[in-house]
Amino acid sequence: MKQAETNHLNVLPEAMRESVRLVERTRKYRLAQSLRGETFPSLSISDRKAWLADFHPDQRADGKRYLLVGPNEGNQVPVELADLLESRPRIALTELMEDPSITAKADIVTDILIIGGGGAGTTAAIAAAKAGSKVFIATKLRHGDSNTIMAEGGMQVADQECDSPVQHYLDILGGGHFTNNAELVEALVTDGASALRWLEDLGMLFDKYPTGRMKVRHGGGTSRKRLHAAGDVTGLEMMRVIRDKAESIENITVSDFTPAVELLTDDDGRAVGAVLERINGGKPLIVHAKSVIIATGGMGRLHLNKFPTSNHYGATADGLVMAYRAGVPLRDLHSCQYHPTGSAYPQRKVGLLITEKFRGLGASFLNKFGDEFIFGLEARDVTTAAIIRECQMMNNGVQTPYGSVGVWLDIPLIDLIHGRGTIEKEFPGRFKEFISKGIDIRKLPLLAYPTLHYQNGGMVIGTNGGTDMPGLFAAGEVTGGVHGHNRLMGNALLEILVFGLRAGQSAAEFAQSTTLSSSPGLSHLSAFVEQLEQKNCNPELNGPQLLPVY
Ligand code: FUM
Repeated sequence: MKQAETNHLNVLPEAMRESVRLVERTRKYRLAQSLRGETFPSLSISDRKAWLADFHPDQRADGKRYLLVGPNEGNQVPVELADLLESRPRIALTELMEDPSITAKADIVTDILIIGGGGAGTTAAIAAAKAGSKVFIATKLRHGDSNTIMAEGGMQVADQECDSPVQHYLDILGGGHFTNNAELVEALVTDGASALRWLEDLGMLFDKYPTGRMKVRHGGGTSRKRLHAAGDVTGLEMMRVIRDKAESIENITVSDFTPAVELLTDDDGRAVGAVLERINGGKPLIVHAKSVIIATGGMGRLHLNKFPTSNHYGATADGLVMAYRAGVPLRDLHSCQYHPTGSAYPQRKVGLLITEKFRGLGASFLNKFGDEFIFGLEARDVTTAAIIRECQMMNNGVQTPYGSVGVWLDIPLIDLIHGRGTIEKEFPGRFKEFISKGIDIRKLPLLAYPTLHYQNGGMVIGTNGGTDMPGLFAAGEVTGGVHGHNRLMGNALLEILVFGLRAGQSAAEFAQSTTLSSSPGLSHLSAFVEQLEQKNCNPELNGPQLLPVY
């Protein structure tokens, strides 16, 4: 082979180069197959079940324990989460628990307190303000810093002629192994088209053909093409317009670097505010509100089963911890999403998301011999199990010099299928990310291995975002039920909009029907600590954690 033809390989260690040469050798067959409209055969139902049972990280016998106290007592959940749900209150709370006169005085009074300033919280704020409420958003980092801005590949909405909300509904239920709350799924798909219009009206720039028609793609486990994207930076573009809108509304105040660390409840068992810590130090802030929305996102930064994560640094399960201590039931806590394609090389990019949209445009999965081993658009949990199986059981993974392993995602195939320039145009984010490390994804496949991506379970909610606790609402990844035990790509961005809007509207209606409480306090927390003591739990951790330990 001529020197110029192999130069792109020089960035890889020799042992990996040999495997890429095999990938390049088989590429022409896969191209021909794709041009004939053929795909690698999908798995049989029995193989799906067996591979999930044997290889999906949720099924591992280790790494879990039973909860000893609280509404989900007796449930088996990941140890890292269990330890936080049953942690001690943060140090700053001790004085407040002992002296109720402190929580009785407010630093901030508002109609609605929203905990979390990502996509769901900010959307809820816009809806609540539109319904006439005064809103205070307390956010841990800066407004918008969240998993939303890291979402890449798109949002599912059934708005094409060949599609329907019913079809979307069936895909979600099947993808979730029929463990979803069907009413929540119905709400999601029914509001899909109006949520998409809402974003367009705010100015979001979706990928379109020159005619103005939306470009739509397949995601894993979808029976129709319904992924709407903005390149591979869909969440960033979405958050841009939502945040701009919220910041233009006078009735919305945003407080950065002030994470909530505990809910306030009253003698009637209602949620009536929260205690906020100041990241930069100083006395906690007491917020009194008529209703509260939790929108704190997920828990990827707990690194369950020691997996790397695609998540934002703030994803530390804070909302689950606060809600649980206040007695709000959670569901499906054992179920997490390990995205099949986290980056596995180079070392500095390990865990980083490589969007499923690459597979929507034809990139295939290959083992160290350059052989395809799984249809790229199986549902996520199945694909993840297949990759782990290929590496662990078949021993067909590609070893890196750092001792990790992965499989190839043949990205250069995309330009061959769709024409030169497609990769740069459709994936500007990933293209720049990897070219900065000398890896040109137009020429080289990327090495991938599952990365902890999403929390499928969470707070139990109804279709209006309400919880069992009066005055407490929730939206987004902190909730459970929409996705059951496995979320399909692109339904998280839709969820934050649909349930953000619903929770914001419902919290505003609740606030308008009530007055500020006269007894905001932390008695629920004292009761929780007492339960821990009764069960001889002696937690070492203080929670919520707020930031990863490193
Ligand atoms: O692969 C992705 O772009 C991820 C999307 C999602 O989790 O919905």
